[in-house]
Amino acid sequence: MIELAPSILSADFAHLADAAQAAIQGGAALLHVDVMDGHFVPNITLGPPVVKSLRKAVKVPLDCHLMVENADPFIPEFAEAGADWISVHQEACVHLDRTLHLIASHGCKPGVVINPATPVETLTEVLDLVHHVLVMSVNPGFGGQKFIPNALNKIAALARLRAERKLDFRIEVDGGVDLETVGDVVKAGAELLVAGSAVFSHGDIGANAAKLLETARAAVLTRA
Ligand code: DX5
Ligand code: ZN
Repeated sequence: MIELAPSILSADFAHLADAAQAAIQGGAALLHVDVMDGHFVPNITLGPPVVKSLRKAVKVPLDCHLMVENADPFIPEFAEAGADWISVHQEACVHLDRTLHLIASHGCKPGVVINPATPVETLTEVLDLVHHVLVMSVNPGFGGQKFIPNALNKIAALARLRAERKLDFRIEVDGGVDLETVGDVVKAGAELLVAGSAVFSHGDIGANAAKLLETARAAVLTRA
């Protein structure tokens, strides 16, 4: 099932609830929340207080993508604030197995993220623990960057591994997903689509979300 997770990073934070509602009305099934600490990535964004406010404003699951160096101490706080899904970077977690269990123990769906330079093979030992694998198709830190095509090979490799091992994690993609790239992304096997600037940065937010979903779903029908 193809689902859209608009990244609120590109929304107008002064009107966050309205922007989120518009995206949901356009068909977004969840909202993607980009948390950056200024250490793991060269940018600072938001933390649990924003998640808490957003939780009151919308009903859809909140998909929190932690781009932080030291995630463990913050996981209880994000869970308490209303995060539903929490993903952490393979590159940032020395004790990844422990961190994924910690997320699950707080009642959230655990996810793992890999940067463009990180091979899929680094995840083989945790694939049975995760609810979703997020493939970065840009180097994390900023919205509005250009899609890195090698992400398509990684998505396809994950889909193959999932079938071989009879697992059921979901495959998510993040970065540079727009009307031009979304078709290739779903054909490669991604089913959770994160999109920031393509949804929030121009025109009508609801219409942008609807068009992106429609384009993605049309491409699935042509998947080999
Ligand atoms: C990048 C973030 C993304 C970003 C996506 O570090 O993880 O979620 O907001 O933005 P676009 O869709 O504009 O590439
Ligand atoms: Zn993200």
